[in-house]
Amino acid sequence: MDEENKLSRKTVLKAALAAGVAAPVALIGGPALARANAVGGTAPELTPACHDGDEPTIEQTEGPYFKPNSPERTSLVTPGTPGTRLTVTGYVFGRACLPVNRALLDFWQADVNGAYDNTGYTFRGHQYTDAQGAFTLSTIVPGLYPGRTRHIHVKVQAPGRPVLTTQLYFPGEPRNNTDSIFDARLLMTVRDNGSAKEGAFDFVLDVPQAPTSASTPPGGTSWAVGTAYAAGARVTYGGRGYGCLQAHTAQPGWEPPAVPALWRGE
Ligand SMILES: [Fe+2]
Repeated sequence: MDEENKLSRKTVLKAALAAGVAAPVALIGGPALARANAVGGTAPELTPACHDGDEPTIEQTEGPYFKPNSPERTSLVTPGTPGTRLTVTGYVFGRACLPVNRALLDFWQADVNGAYDNTGYTFRGHQYTDAQGAFTLSTIVPGLYPGRTRHIHVKVQAPGRPVLTTQLYFPGEPRNNTDSIFDARLLMTVRDNGSAKEGAFDFVLDVPQAPTSASTPPGGTSWAVGTAYAAGARVTYGGRGYGCLQAHTAQPGWEPPAVPALWRGE
């Protein structure tokens, strides 16, 4: 995808977001993505799964409360945990906008009263992305403590790569305007779901990924992740032939039978 296409795709997405309508798949230039159903709620989730070459997620201070060796878990709450339930979902991508499988995410945050557990591991936990680069964290909305706006700490690391330490923020927080560490580039998308909240954020790590090929030879080669397919390209997958309906770069989870917007069986 060249720079112009990236720009036009972004423009269409932003226009669609501003208008509150779903952009037609054909205009986006990519398939309807897993993210569309990753977060519940009434409005369609239009966050693109690929950041179109956006800069990597910025780093932020670790702060004084990180503890190594957190337990591996995706939920930091029990049924009795006080606080507004919050689910954070998202993806981890590399510089080629491909998902990072088995990326480590280590979250830590304050409890509902704004206190960190510095003796145990309450509200601390690490997990790994799946093959689609996706993660889900079940927690609560962290409480406020003096000097900071509302935030969640996280370390993200692709296998064998440097650790990215950063923080995630909540839109609409009054203290976002006075916290000198706050950065709007780290704002989650947050929506209400009944009495709970659902946040979304995608990380982009500064990790190299295999370059995508420029074209597909004619004749139906085997479908392969990372291949840039043009409309009309033919592939085989699972012993069947498929024709490409719109140009895209293949990603895990976009196998032809799974994405009728991209492939038609022949
Ligand atoms: Fe903090």
